[in-house]
Amino acid sequence: MAGGPLDKLGRGMRDLRISLTDRCNFRCRYCMPVEVFGPGYRFLPREDLLSFEEILRLTRLLVPQGVEKVRLTGGEPLLRNGVEDLVAMLATVDGVKDIALTTNGVLLAHHAEALALAGLSRATVSLDALDPAIFARMNGVGAKVERVLAGINAARTYGLKVKVNAVIQRGVNESEILPLARWAKSEGIDLRYIEYMDVGETNGWKLAEVVSASELLEILGTEFDLTARDPAYRGEVALHWKHADGSCELGVIASVTRPFCRDCQRLRLSADGKLFTCLFAANGYDLRDLLRGGAGDDVLLAAVRGMWLAREDRYSEERGLATRPKAEMSYLGG
Ligand code: GTP
Ligand code: 5AD
Ligand code: SF4
Ligand code: SF4
Repeated sequence: MAGGPLDKLGRGMRDLRISLTDRCNFRCRYCMPVEVFGPGYRFLPREDLLSFEEILRLTRLLVPQGVEKVRLTGGEPLLRNGVEDLVAMLATVDGVKDIALTTNGVLLAHHAEALALAGLSRATVSLDALDPAIFARMNGVGAKVERVLAGINAARTYGLKVKVNAVIQRGVNESEILPLARWAKSEGIDLRYIEYMDVGETNGWKLAEVVSASELLEILGTEFDLTARDPAYRGEVALHWKHADGSCELGVIASVTRPFCRDCQRLRLSADGKLFTCLFAANGYDLRDLLRGGAGDDVLLAAVRGMWLAREDRYSEERGLATRPKAEMSYLGG
């Protein structure tokens, strides 16, 4: 994008991921273990969250800097009241080519029509297991897989493009790798497996629990005829394979075994308005303070550009070299 800043590794800003809340109605162990995120956990107070107007203002400012895609995340973004209104506001911004939402899907059936009417293009639904017992154990609250499937169906009915993400954890849901692939193929839905990541400080991550992209491909290759395809755009996070019959795709997000930092064009805005340049960063730059302190667009822009120009994050490529504190994914947005 002409005029947009490039960071120290030559990467522009393209994908803006906006977390709408740090709350979630699930307690997936790999993200929000219930022992930590229990009844006593202090979530962000309402007044700390960026308002929709504040989010809109920042998005308007960031688009001329290179942002083309906006993804709403959380926590669970559908827990934020009026999320459809925000989508409609973002859809008015010239230059935003794609508005997507990452959700656990439980509330999606209820919101799908309004989201589609508001201008949402895509929904990415997390679904780690089809087996009811494994799914209930993983989501930590006993949520039922049928609700998520109903959410996916509703989204498709109203014309949203749907992708499914499944985090695979050894000893937890490897047995779901093939059933998920069979289901996705029969539905014609693109499915991406995610290598279990050491994001945040609370999930007790162990390398031994990561099922690598190579292992996944080996397992999938026992049943499916797959052909690798090239990335659709610079910085696409998943490696992709097409089914021989062209029905749909399987992907693997291999942040642990095949990091993709060199093309990372993502910036993340936490629910309380901190701008993070890496999923594994400890801190973000407090834009809310500037917004609420009355900063003009020029001041905001100078702050964002300065931060981006100084960026040299490549955590996944450096994994294991240094241990640094990291913010929780439920807070800064997946
Ligand atoms: P598309 O727009 O469909 O290409 O989606 P996306 O891959 O940008 O977004 P999605 O939310 O589906 O990303 C899937 C998952 O990949 C995220 O939830 C993270 O778990 C992981 N992921 C996404 N971006 C990054 C990143 O920058 N670094 C790392 N390490 N993981 C990422
Ligand atoms: N490792 C890999 N993926 C994760 N997600 C959340 N925590 C982790 C983790 N530790 C995934 C969710 C969802 C997306 C937002 O990120 O399952 O698909
Ligand atoms: Fe909620 Fe998604 Fe985290 Fe699970 S992974 S606890 S659904 S934010
Ligand atoms: Fe981007 Fe950081 Fe993920 Fe690397 S680890 S791809 S720099 S967000």
